[in-house]
Amino acid sequence: MLRLSLLALSIALCLAGCLPAAVDPAGLMTSVAFAPTAIARLSTPSALHASAEKLDEGLRTYRSQYCGVCHQLTVGGTTGQFGPSHDGLAWTAQRRLLDPAYTGQATTPHEYLRESILSPEVYIVDGYADSSHHMPSYAHLSSSEIDALIYLMENQW
Ligand code: HEC
Repeated sequence: MLRLSLLALSIALCLAGCLPAAVDPAGLMTSVAFAPTAIARLSTPSALHASAEKLDEGLRTYRSQYCGVCHQLTVGGTTGQFGPSHDGLAWTAQRRLLDPAYTGQATTPHEYLRESILSPEVYIVDGYADSSHHMPSYAHLSSSEIDALIYLMENQW
């Protein structure tokens, strides 16, 4: 970040010196001074703003339903290998939706995760069709348990 600021500052100083008088160097300096803040805001993962309480609730449900027998989730300390890893699942969900082979109805990562839990058969992740450990439906869970699981998963960056 320091390097970036220094680079931005030197560009600004050069511009202030080289540009015609019509360009307002003070205005330039102000926008440059704000640039690092904007960059910092952009690069802050939204996971930092996630509610610890809701994540805990998700983890409790994840453990009580033994999702980790088949899935790896580092924050939950699980190492299951029968299904795809849940590390970085927020990105994975976005990738699935962009995959031309996607056969489900979801249009957002949140919907994709809900669909995966309730109706896993509508889309089978590539490479798992012949698995002897199919993803079971968890449609019998309460809506608050399902929401807790989704919250946990959509915050895995
Ligand atoms: C018996 C093993 C097994 C269990 C237990 C299991 N899953 Fe799965 N899961 C799978 C398999 C295999 C797949 C990949 C095939 C598919 O897409 O249905 C999968 C896929 C998924 C996906 C899609 C992942 C992706 O990369 O797109 C999600 C989300 C998911 N499971 C969530 C859960 C949750 C939450 C639980 C616990 C409530 C759970 N799973 C329990 C086997 C399991």
